[in-house]
Amino acid sequence: ELMGMIKGIHTMEERLKEQFGLDEVTIVHGDSDQSSWVKKELGKACANSIKQRLLAKNIIAVTGGTTTLEAAEAMTKDFADGKEVVFVPARGGLGEDLLNQANSIVAKMAANTGGKHRLLYAPDQISRETHESILKEPTINEVLQLIKSSTLVLHGVGEAIAMAQRRNTPEEEFQKIKDGKATAEAFGYYFNEAGQIVHRVSTIGLQLDDLVSAHDVIAVAGGASKGKAIRSYLRGAPKMTVLITDEAAAEQLLSES
Ligand code: BG6
Repeated sequence: ELMGMIKGIHTMEERLKEQFGLDEVTIVHGDSDQSSWVKKELGKACANSIKQRLLAKNIIAVTGGTTTLEAAEAMTKDFADGKEVVFVPARGGLGEDLLNQANSIVAKMAANTGGKHRLLYAPDQISRETHESILKEPTINEVLQLIKSSTLVLHGVGEAIAMAQRRNTPEEEFQKIKDGKATAEAFGYYFNEAGQIVHRVSTIGLQLDDLVSAHDVIAVAGGASKGKAIRSYLRGAPKMTVLITDEAAAEQLLSES
């Protein structure tokens, strides 16, 4: 019975890898919509996957979210194994709750692993003028340079409307997201079913094009409710190294495509 289950998961991983042209897929058992321990398993899988990919020197950029938070919780003192690690938030403020913010998550990762971290203090929804003057701040610029030279990016994927609501998105932007029929969201970018960008939250830090230059990119998202969002995102992703998901989302991804 157990062997059959493991074999089933492995077959699903291989099929997803082929279907979306991914470098690697890890599927954990269960449905994170249904039980919180499944999200914890996603977190553990992220921590393991990153640990295996560490170079001698690492700049790890991380987005916010409840799933990446579990990755932080799963990291321990033996994570870096003598290697150099700096955790940086992938982007500036996106309107998340403090607990789920990228800044909080990288601070936790550094605390749990004994690694270093840098914070990015940038307000949400900034105007073009503020944007330009913020970029000139030496302390901010230094962190932005680190982000641009990330060796690994860990990011979540969410449902577009759920994310827009969670972030208290201004009415005008919300309308743009709806009109664009956005289905997926990742690091402040909103994608439609074809994987096209329909909206992008204006903030500093990682941009979609930057993913190409990172050595590894790990997308983590699970739950049956995220199946469509993950599919849409994968269609638009410029480069995808690793997908970490759960069984319920994987079933959705394989069934409708
Ligand atoms: C956001 C990230 O903070 O969390 C997004 O910027 C991600 O990349 C979202 O889509 C997902 O959140 P959760 O809580 O569903 O893991």
